[in-house]
Amino acid sequence: MKIAIPRERRAGENRVAASPETVKKLKALSLEVVVETGAGLGSNLPDRVYQDAGAEIAPDAASALADADIVLKVQRPLLAGEGDLDELALIKRGALLFAILNPYNSRDHVAAYAAAGVNAFAMEFMPRITRAQVMDVLSSQANLAGYKAVVDAASEYGRAYPMMMTAAGTVPPARAFIMGVGVAGLQAIATAKRLGAIVSATDVRPAVKEQVQSLGGSFVAVENDEFKQAETAGGYAKEMSDDYKRQQAALVAEHIKKQDIVITTALIPGRKAPILVTREHVASMKPGSVLIDLAVEQGGNVEGSELGKVVVTDNGVKIVGHANYPSRIAESASLLYAKNLLALLQSLHDKEKGVTLNWDDEIVKAIALTRDGQVVHPAFAGQTV
Ligand code: NAI
Repeated sequence: MKIAIPRERRAGENRVAASPETVKKLKALSLEVVVETGAGLGSNLPDRVYQDAGAEIAPDAASALADADIVLKVQRPLLAGEGDLDELALIKRGALLFAILNPYNSRDHVAAYAAAGVNAFAMEFMPRITRAQVMDVLSSQANLAGYKAVVDAASEYGRAYPMMMTAAGTVPPARAFIMGVGVAGLQAIATAKRLGAIVSATDVRPAVKEQVQSLGGSFVAVENDEFKQAETAGGYAKEMSDDYKRQQAALVAEHIKKQDIVITTALIPGRKAPILVTREHVASMKPGSVLIDLAVEQGGNVEGSELGKVVVTDNGVKIVGHANYPSRIAESASLLYAKNLLALLQSLHDKEKGVTLNWDDEIVKAIALTRDGQVVHPAFAGQTV
């Protein structure tokens, strides 16, 4: 069985779907591993380290993908007209494709996988069950994004995070406010705290309050009856009522004026991100304050944030809207993502039959978008090219 790891071709993507460690472990399962030349360069992983781990290096995508039974990617393949290469056309019928496929924002791709006879699996649909924790790409990548957002904010901010008492005077500590306390938010709180900031955080899920406090942050939220029920069985947030949003915005208005750093991470699966910071909030902030909008690709939590840009407002506030945060810390992100994929393949591997799919398995069912030319995921059923 041949596994291919092509170079990522989408703009700004520095990650790669295999590491030397995962190549070694895939080889140990008697799988043939082919890595396209240069695939790891954005993550400081030259061809040589893959070769040393036992991979074959292919000179281009076509030869890497030729006859591959399994394709591991970070992002969805390019289709005809999207770039200089139609990657999907290079994948053979019947092959398994594992990647962060972003299907809600690329429904036409889902239909294209079916038409190409490629069995496509969206890694971000991994269910949040104990068995699948090791394969949870949303967590592995969001954790690093939360860390990197705080570090980026430190470099955009003209002052220091910690309080410093020096002979020349005292530097006051920065106040950091984290909005949305999922995986990224928790890591942002921990990182800002380690750097010496005074940290506060908000979320609509009640379970979060204790987590914030245990990391040394203070919790800021309207804690009414709606808040007490605002969590789905899967642990995700629900869309809140307009009334709740108004009350929360008023609370945030008072708090945000005093903040130096604001990191927003709030998402609702399959929906546009909620606006948590309005233009009025931004206008009330001090010059030099920094907002990092980690939800910018899902429409943004901050009014005025722009994808791929650092916007400086009239009152001197920076709104940072970098795309693809995990790619900004690509080496760590690739190592963890590659491990997530390896864990999935190990769970699908059978000594006699190699990688085989049990289509009734909870994990396979959750992540499968297409099977044998059909769109099988209920969220995309009926999708055609
Ligand atoms: P996410 O990326 O979907 O959203 C980020 C955060 O934004 C969430 O905490 C959400 O409640 C919050 N949010 C949404 N709307 C908001 C609003 N209007 N105002 C303020 N905050 C808002 O969340 P993520 O990081 O995927 O985590 C979701 C849950 O899954 C958490 O409970 C997490 O602990 C849990 N989880 C469970 C795992 C497992 O059991 N295997 C693995 C990873 C996470």
